[in-house]
Amino acid sequence: MGRVIAVANQKGGVGKTTTAINLASSLAAAEVDTLLVDCDPQSNATSGLGLVKDPERISTYHLLMGAAGADTALQATGLEQLWIIPAHKNLIGANLELVEGERREFRLRDALAPLRERFQFIVLDCPPALDLLTLNALVAADAVLIPMQAEYFALEGVSELLDTVERIRGSFNPELVIEGVVLTMFDERTNLAQQVTAELKRFFGEKLCQTTIPRNIRLAEAPSHGKPALLYDVRSRGAESYIRLAKEIISHHLPTQEVAAPETAEGQEKTGEEMDKTA
Ligand SMILES: Nc1ncnc2c1ncn2[C@@H]1O[C@H](COP(=O)(O)OP(=O)(O)O)[C@@H](O)[C@H]1O
Ligand SMILES: [Mg+2]
Repeated sequence: MGRVIAVANQKGGVGKTTTAINLASSLAAAEVDTLLVDCDPQSNATSGLGLVKDPERISTYHLLMGAAGADTALQATGLEQLWIIPAHKNLIGANLELVEGERREFRLRDALAPLRERFQFIVLDCPPALDLLTLNALVAADAVLIPMQAEYFALEGVSELLDTVERIRGSFNPELVIEGVVLTMFDERTNLAQQVTAELKRFFGEKLCQTTIPRNIRLAEAPSHGKPALLYDVRSRGAESYIRLAKEIISHHLPTQEVAAPETAEGQEKTGEEMDKTA
């Protein structure tokens, strides 16, 4: 069964989309079948992977509206083991159109259910709001990954998200857990970063990811080339840090798998291909 991870933080510009694109790509590069679902009307994950705008294409909007099956929405990417379900700005309408809808919080969960056997990881890129789209992502997810910047009041910024996660756990999705908190655009040399990290470590404990993502220009440039960082400049610190984050997240779930050499994983966790055969 694949693991669904929502990348969420209601604050904009904290690195959600950069994390979703580069984590998903790094998982795929580690030979794990991965799906990225763009749940943000801004569609930055879609364009960041090189898909041109196309209102006719089947997208997350159609899934939420029950107008198409998820398998018909899959698009290939520049990485063999990475697929994307794209978004288009029409997704903004789903927030309103769904308000009266039946099972409105479960639309994404229901739509993705048939794909959970096929992918080992499904990464959801959320919009910068605690709206019905993020709610659908959190109800569809097994876990939430929270990108954060190391700034003063960092905890105050995420308290609303943590409350929302708590409420969803008490209602629509009792299994929802926190996958981790990842520090983005991180500059370890500053005192501020050290202080905030210590505070977050006290608060989140093991949930604070060991991997931090440095501020790195390659991460900001790659989307304009329609590529994840590891296809744009694999040697950049940005690409390397997301590869480390992917290994850390795989290790949460496949602790015995040697990630750097996937071919040695034989006899341990099933590969996506084997899952397909048994499905
Ligand atoms: N580690 C990083 N180093 C440099 N620039 C980054 C980094 N992470 C994100 N950015 C840039 O910061 C901006 C906001 O990031 P983005 O991932 O779009 O945030 P969000 O999805 O949370 O709004 C983008 O221009 C992005 O390219
Ligand atoms: Mg974004």
